[in-house]
Amino acid sequence: MNPSSLPLKILEQKPPVILPSLLLCDFANLQREAERLEMAGFQALHLDVMDGVFVPNLSYGLSVVKSLRRVTKLPLDVHLMIANPAQYIGAFREAGADIITFHAEATSDHAGVLEQIRRSGAGAGIVLNPGTPVADVAAVIELCDLVLVMSVQAGFGGQSFRPDVLAKFSELRALAASKPDLILEIDGGINMGTMKPACDAGAQWLVVGSGIFAHSDYAAAHQNLLAAAK
Ligand code: DX5
Ligand code: ZN
Repeated sequence: MNPSSLPLKILEQKPPVILPSLLLCDFANLQREAERLEMAGFQALHLDVMDGVFVPNLSYGLSVVKSLRRVTKLPLDVHLMIANPAQYIGAFREAGADIITFHAEATSDHAGVLEQIRRSGAGAGIVLNPGTPVADVAAVIELCDLVLVMSVQAGFGGQSFRPDVLAKFSELRALAASKPDLILEIDGGINMGTMKPACDAGAQWLVVGSGIFAHSDYAAAHQNLLAAAK
C-alpha cells in the first residue's frame, strides 16, 4: 500500500505539530475541551488508551473515542497502550480513529498489526518505550506512516522527560532513508524546556499533556510551546 495515499492533511503539516494528549482534560466537558483545543489552533488530538495490563494504569477506551468523534472534526491519533492490539484495531477504527499506534513491546507480530491498521484505512504507527531499541522495528519501517518514540515509560502523564531517547530520532531517520515522509513523533514530558531539544533531535509531532492542561489558556500554551521550539 502506498503510504502517501492517506487522505489526512495532518500528515502533510509542516513540523513542529503539537498534539494535545487528553489524559488530563476535563472529561465532564469533553465536547467543550475539544472545541477549546480546536479554537487554540491544534490540528489533531492524541488519545491515550490504557488497559491496566500492558501498563499499570487505566484510562479510557472505545466509548470516549466514539464520543469525541461525534463532536470534533480534528484527526484522532489513538495511542494504544494495550496488551493485545490486534484484537481491537477494527473497533478503534470504527470508533473514529484516524491514526492508530501500538507498542512494539505488546506483540511480536509487528508487521501483521501494521498491515491490519493500514487495511482499516487508518494511518499506522508503532511505539517504542524508552528501553526498546530502534533495531526492534527496523524490519517494519516501510509499513509505518509514523513512529512514536516515548520519552517517558508509557502509562502516566506528568513524568519527567528522558533525554537519552533523543538519539533514536537520527537512528530512525537513517533507517527510513528511502521513506522521507515517515513522521517521527515524541510523547512524554514535553514542555517549554524540552520542546527545543526534541525538535532539534528530529521530532516532528510532539504530544503534550500537562504542558497544555496545566494552563487555562490553551491558545497561549500552544503559541508558547511553538515559540519554545525555535
Ligand atoms: C503517557 C502518555 C502521554 C502523556 C503525556 O503514557 O502516552 O501522552 O499523557 O503527558 P505529559 O505531557 O504530561 O507527559
Ligand atoms: Zn500518548
